[in-house]
Amino acid sequence: MRTSILVRYKDYLPITADTPLFSLGEADTPLVRCKALETEIGCGELYLKLEGCNPTGSFKDRGMVVAIAKAMEAGSKAVMCASTGNTSASAAAYAAYCGLTAVVIVPKGKIALGKLAQAIVYGAKILSVDGNFDQALQMVRGLTEKHPITLVNSLNPHRIDGQKTAAFEIVDVLGEAPDYLFIPVGNAGNITAYWKGFVEYFQATKARSKPKMMGFQAEGAAPIVRGHVVEKPETVASAIRIGNPASWKKAVAARDESGGVIDMVSDAEILAAQRLMASKAGVFGEPASAASVAGLIKLSRKGLDLSKKRAVCIITGTGLKDTDAALKDAQPFIEVPADLAAIEKVLGWA
Ligand code: F0G
Repeated sequence: MRTSILVRYKDYLPITADTPLFSLGEADTPLVRCKALETEIGCGELYLKLEGCNPTGSFKDRGMVVAIAKAMEAGSKAVMCASTGNTSASAAAYAAYCGLTAVVIVPKGKIALGKLAQAIVYGAKILSVDGNFDQALQMVRGLTEKHPITLVNSLNPHRIDGQKTAAFEIVDVLGEAPDYLFIPVGNAGNITAYWKGFVEYFQATKARSKPKMMGFQAEGAAPIVRGHVVEKPETVASAIRIGNPASWKKAVAARDESGGVIDMVSDAEILAAQRLMASKAGVFGEPASAASVAGLIKLSRKGLDLSKKRAVCIITGTGLKDTDAALKDAQPFIEVPADLAAIEKVLGWA
């Protein structure tokens, strides 16, 4: 059985004698080195952190286990979040495990079906709002201020504390912080969490350095890059279709304190990176996840010399959640009769 992050990293988490300690199998995710991508991109060492291997298929589970444990400790009976899909799936699963009610608000027609299926099956109360994520989050903030329900978006500091453990794992596995960390940015909680983790490990002398934080938004949903709220965000990467990130200032601080950048990538670059990562590394990440690899490719093409550097890309969620996006421009299959000779012919083996 895996050790819960609530136990493994308890010295860095708000754990008290009354915090319930449990695990759905989150964290301790693989850090996979990919030599083919290193060659392709021109990077000294390149690792993919497979957060899609978490129990609900995204990094949200790290934050959720802490947020739900603290909600239990406080005697809460219900939790609530706004979500582009992954947070709602995670909140629904952990609430189900702990016997809590989960209420989730999602933007109508804008969440990947796999994620919606998760929230349905885990038994969440799902409200589909005629608006975008930013509006949904506004509703949730208002409702959780008025009613005795715990907010489990990343505005909840316990979410950030749980998610920072991924930075600890990277240092624990590599023995040192990487030079660069590439990460998608939506509501900006995760980049905030990683930076917090790297800083805390540095302060605890577990690492001698900190990485440059390289955050990537989608071009149609890039408020931080453009310096203003995007009223109508649009991108194929529905997970990061966010126009007014809650942790905007913290993401900018992570960028500036680390000497990194927050830049943007187009939908075409995201989808190309998703394909490349799948075909060269055998890793199927959802479009938002591919923004990290797309960003790495973009900056390397623009002249960032990574040839002697160690970089980690965070693959935040599994591609299985959003097969529509992956199949949209896929080649049609070759149709064949159930006949050996005919198949040999098609394959050119005849
Ligand atoms: N990647 C995936 C797969 C996500 O689901 C999200 C955010 C991000 C990246 C961006 O992380 O918001 O911390 O900057 N998903 C949220 C959700 C918004 O509701 O599931 P962030």
